[in-house]
Amino acid sequence: MLNIVLFGPPGSGKGTQAEKIIDKYKLVHLSTGDMLRAEIAAATTLGLEAKTLMDKGELVPDAVVIGMIENKLAGNKTAGGFVFDGFPRTVKQAEALDALLEKHKAPIKVVLSIKVGEEELTRRILARGATSGRADDQNETIVKNRVVEYRTKTEPLANYYTAQGKLKDITGEKPVDEVFASLCHEIDKVNSNKGLTPSVP
Ligand code: AP5
Repeated sequence: MLNIVLFGPPGSGKGTQAEKIIDKYKLVHLSTGDMLRAEIAAATTLGLEAKTLMDKGELVPDAVVIGMIENKLAGNKTAGGFVFDGFPRTVKQAEALDALLEKHKAPIKVVLSIKVGEEELTRRILARGATSGRADDQNETIVKNRVVEYRTKTEPLANYYTAQGKLKDITGEKPVDEVFASLCHEIDKVNSNKGLTPSVP
């Protein structure tokens, strides 16, 4: 099973690259941001509670997102692997994900950390905000708060995955296809199915 974590600040290109990766490697895309926005669109209690935090650029509680991921893993038992996008975002979430994947004997193979500078992140998100309809894309103060949340709560995860020998840094300030090529290069190093042909008896 090919399980990949896409790691990086808001606007670094996780969602854009996740779509390309799932298409190429036939994996399932799990984005907690998309799941939360679906809850908001459906006006569920969870969605309404999450919206208050998301609109301010703050993280929603660990238990909420861990529960959502647990449900998705249970509902996709035949998947060849998952691309985790925007999850985990805290050490507690990372520990919970390791425990969930351990049950399936399918650990994370690689954590791809997309590096983009703060000026470019802000530029990309505010540009998208003109059309995305996302409240958290529209205002520079909220965008900066999302980056602060990332630096304080999510970036420490880099040490967690470095200790496991899984973290790979990728330069994200390049055209989308060039970033994709760099990501595929790292994925192919850990993808044991690639290029294997049945042995002739
Ligand atoms: P989430 O939806 O995960 O948003 P995010 O991490 O802030 O990420 P974005 O979607 O803004 O950016 P991205 O890195 O995916 O980049 P993208 O490809 O879209 O989370 C939203 C909120 O939900 C959080 O703030 C939090 O409240 C809550 N939440 C979600 N998960 C949670 C969790 N696990 N725990 C707690 N709370 C959670 O690209 C951005 C833009 O840049 C696009 O316009 C794109 O076209 C453009 N772009 C992409 N790549 C390039 C490139 N190479 N060159 C130029 N432009 C590019």
